[in-house]
Amino acid sequence: MFSTNLEILQREKQQKSREACSYKKRTMALTRIDRMQLEQMDKIQRLHLVNSCTGFKSANLIGTISNSGQTNVAIFSSVTHLGSDPALIGLVIRPSFQPRNTYQNIKEYGYFTVNHVYKDIIAAAHQSSANYTAEESEFDHTDLEAVYHGGCPVPFVKGSPVKLLCKFVSEYLIHENGCMHIIASIESIFYEESLMDEEKHLCLEKGNVVTIAGLKAYLLPSLLAEFPQAKVPK
Ligand SMILES: Cc1cc2nc3c(=O)[nH]c(=O)nc-3n(C[C@H](O)[C@H](O)[C@H](O)COP(=O)(O)O)c2cc1C
Repeated sequence: MFSTNLEILQREKQQKSREACSYKKRTMALTRIDRMQLEQMDKIQRLHLVNSCTGFKSANLIGTISNSGQTNVAIFSSVTHLGSDPALIGLVIRPSFQPRNTYQNIKEYGYFTVNHVYKDIIAAAHQSSANYTAEESEFDHTDLEAVYHGGCPVPFVKGSPVKLLCKFVSEYLIHENGCMHIIASIESIFYEESLMDEEKHLCLEKGNVVTIAGLKAYLLPSLLAEFPQAKVPK
């Protein structure tokens, strides 16, 4: 027996409604993990979960130098804007039993660089998170190349389309978990001219700047829409 056009249309309608329903169910079925379960979790699994649950983060390579001239570069996803007048940024350093070269260098030399990670260097940028010793520069052990701007001895990362020269201002120990919140002023901004729009935004997507999810995933964002400053409708 052949189905009539009406029957075919009805079946298609039922199928669509089933699909819509299962999609709705799927998005509604959320798993819940509470603080106590988090505290009981395996340390590394908790690190992964907590690092990814707060959303996409900035991907930056922090370039530093020690007083003896040893360079260092390491990936950080905790660089955040802390206000623009004066222009300040924050950076969170995890507690560690091993010496943190980035932290020591920032405290020693007082200046460091923030270099946006772009598409072509993600593997090398990720490799910079390996535990190299203070005597080993990641610039010698990865494909990342050091470059110097404005007569400054602190290394920047070659090819990065947006780079900041920052000066250590203060630090706050987060007593609850032993992390250190570094506060720094932006002393110079270096950027590829083609990224800046007429309102002085840096359009990072034009420079193939990536974002980080958790501690392993690198993504390339694409622009969906732009809006003017939101106002309450009159
Ligand atoms: C994607 C990613 C993001 C990271 N973000 C941070 C961070 O914000 N703070 C931190 O202390 N370590 C972070 N790390 C770990 C450091 O990169 C790693 O500890 C590195 O060895 C530090 O280098 P250093 O000892 O030369 O300072 C991150 C690692 C990865 C893979």
